[in-house]
Amino acid sequence: MIEVLGLSKRFGGHQAVDGVAFRVEPGEFVALLGPNGAGKSTTVKMLTGILHPDAGSVRVAGRSPQRERRALAREIGVVFGQRTGLWWDLPVCDSFDLLAAMYRVRAAAERAAELRSLLDLDGFWHTPVRRLSLGQRVRADIAAALLHRPKVLFLDEPTVGLDLLAKERVREFLSGYGRQGATVLLTTHDLAEVEALCGRVLVMNGGRLAFDGTVADLRQRAGVPTLLTVEYAGEPVGEPAWPAVARDGRSLTVSFDRSQVGAGTVLAALGELGEILDIRLHEPDLEKMVRRLYLHPACARDDPRLL
Ligand SMILES: Nc1ncnc2c1ncn2[C@@H]1O[C@H](COP(=O)(O)OP(=O)(O)OP(=O)(O)O)[C@@H](O)[C@H]1O
Ligand SMILES: [Mg+2]
Repeated sequence: MIEVLGLSKRFGGHQAVDGVAFRVEPGEFVALLGPNGAGKSTTVKMLTGILHPDAGSVRVAGRSPQRERRALAREIGVVFGQRTGLWWDLPVCDSFDLLAAMYRVRAAAERAAELRSLLDLDGFWHTPVRRLSLGQRVRADIAAALLHRPKVLFLDEPTVGLDLLAKERVREFLSGYGRQGATVLLTTHDLAEVEALCGRVLVMNGGRLAFDGTVADLRQRAGVPTLLTVEYAGEPVGEPAWPAVARDGRSLTVSFDRSQVGAGTVLAALGELGEILDIRLHEPDLEKMVRRLYLHPACARDDPRLL
């Protein structure tokens, strides 16, 4: 469980995080999104005890990251994709031995063997970390973060710089891990990753929270219209009740707002104009919706449906 209220952090004259509040329940897999400089990493650093907030209260797994940093370290796992948490000059296996001793991990050898096979670390288990490829290093880092069976996992851009296949492997692992009831806060710029893994999305912008809801909420509420294209047997007769964005012989495309009307209702009304042979529904893609939140965060905050 993560509970954040009024969290703020200023660097010199710049308000990096500005009154952020949210809760993540046990077992939730939540994405933390936002443009570069939005304050995501600063937030994660305050949640993990690396940085002290100027104001606000934080509890992670029932503990204060500031007052109980050492105790909290046993309850959380942290991966920063940009930096390794392993010892650069040591073989991967030695880093795991050190971590097992530091965290007094129960049945550490069994746990390491399990993670080694789940994340496919065998080929470089005895290789120094500095000689690993990025994809290998990230898999080792994720395994290391999970060695002590943490209750809450923070992943800050874990797949940044990975190729498509390496990303897919990490994503598959995280998806399996999420299904086991883990609590995860994932920071990423990869929206396919968000769709595959996260039930809920937090969007930060300019240090503030611009959206908190499910991917489905975002789809419904971001005001990006859904398009429905209908192919008729003959030329449709009459005008559709929704704006036609394209009309060409036997094909008609209308645009409608999912939050106002269901696709079934729209389709039934279009059926009045002629015999339908085929339909195509174009859902607004996540990228478009998130782009709107990045460009107009204030609008999002002023819209009561968007927080
Ligand atoms: N240690 C620091 N000292 C001074 N300014 C900082 C420091 N860390 C972050 N900042 C500033 O705070 C703001 C938020 O940075 P943060 O790293 O949290 O962004 P982010 O959302 O993680 O961005 P990105 O997507 O690029 O990783 C930025 O303007 C950044 O320059
Ligand atoms: Mg960051």
